[in-house]
Amino acid sequence: MPGDRTRELLALAATYDADFNPATSEIVVERGMGAVFVDTEGRELIDLGDIIANVGHSHPRQVEALQGALAQMMVGKSGLTNPARAQLAKRMVEMTPDNLNKVYFVTGGGEVVDWSIRIARRATGKHEILSFWGGVYGRTYANISLNGLMRRRRQFGPVMPGVLHAPYAYCYRCPFGKKPETCDFFCVDYLDDVVKYASTGDIAALIVEPYQGVGGMIFPPDGYLTRLQQWAEANDIVFILDEIQSSFGRTGQMFALEWEDLRPDMLCVGKGMGSGISIAALLAEGWLWDSLEPGELGGGNGGNPLACTSALVVIDILEDEGIVEHARVVGDYLLERFRKLQARYPSVIGDVRGKGLALALEFVRDPESKEPYPEIVRHISRASFERGVYIGSRSHILDARPPLVISQDQAQYVADVIESALAEALGDGEEVTR
Ligand SMILES: Cc1ncc(COP(=O)(O)O)c(C=O)c1O
Repeated sequence: MPGDRTRELLALAATYDADFNPATSEIVVERGMGAVFVDTEGRELIDLGDIIANVGHSHPRQVEALQGALAQMMVGKSGLTNPARAQLAKRMVEMTPDNLNKVYFVTGGGEVVDWSIRIARRATGKHEILSFWGGVYGRTYANISLNGLMRRRRQFGPVMPGVLHAPYAYCYRCPFGKKPETCDFFCVDYLDDVVKYASTGDIAALIVEPYQGVGGMIFPPDGYLTRLQQWAEANDIVFILDEIQSSFGRTGQMFALEWEDLRPDMLCVGKGMGSGISIAALLAEGWLWDSLEPGELGGGNGGNPLACTSALVVIDILEDEGIVEHARVVGDYLLERFRKLQARYPSVIGDVRGKGLALALEFVRDPESKEPYPEIVRHISRASFERGVYIGSRSHILDARPPLVISQDQAQYVADVIESALAEALGDGEEVTR
């Protein structure tokens, strides 16, 4: 039974916070350090439900840099630069592919995606946008029009016209019934048919995530994104890579595009970029920026000194402390553990996938029918919570996306807990305690 303070805060949220669901949220998060957060009951939980705190919760260097920035100047001036913003702009352009020559700072990922398609339309004079089944790009009207999940745009009336949706490379549930070992990226070739039968012949851009995060942690096979980029180039279509979730070390590379040396025409980044302080950015090639009139960009809070200071110190921490490499090593360990778990329980773990510290296990009732099995994920989440591991997933896909500073010991504990919770759910095995 939670204490008075927790109950009071939960009641306030339930009464006044439109984005709070008492049926699914029973805790009040109060503090964080590293890969752990602490709730108002003093429970310490290893955080597997993160996609923001890439350098860990309240990293001391980040806290110190932000305290310094707060004392100097909090407000950014639209169209004017500040020291942190000028330095961050240079840094961002230097650390991304050299075809991307400028950056535009805003406050959230959805805004970046919105701008990317607006600019692609203006610059090309074409209007259609090709998006993907299962893709999730945010919550604005343009974003929900691009989203490839009906539940993410349901009953908001007509969405933005001109969006075409094609299947993503979800190989575990390939809509074409093919296998990645032999299909030779059939789903990329299929885009020719999408153009032929569904387009009006003026596709401005395609937008794609290196892995589909919100859409179910779906990782395409190696080489898919390269083929997609080649297809876009051959068809004179702007290639927009949405790395809002996958950037700043998440997949074990600073940017996921490094896995295949991609050179997108536009790159969307955000989330882990500010590691808790809202900042997101669009990078693009010169000819795309040139299509805008002076003053068409801008905005109230984009590029403010606090957010830019945060992004700068995040980059420093990631680089100086070897966190990207660390994410790869710990991610490989967890992936291996999850694969062993799948070998032990093949009847319920249909698929295990991921890169770096963006990992997932897909649970099914039966490996043949692949019917989703969300109840077992709920059981594992509850049992893990009791043992100090927070799992945010509510579907049949169990996401493991901790802050990138999770230690090897914490990762081992997490894997032990998930294993014992699953064994317990299946009536097989012993409990793990810390
Ligand atoms: C790939 C991707 N793009 C865009 C967004 C939207 O970002 P934001 O929530 O910052 O608006 C998200 C959010 O999860 C995302 O995962």
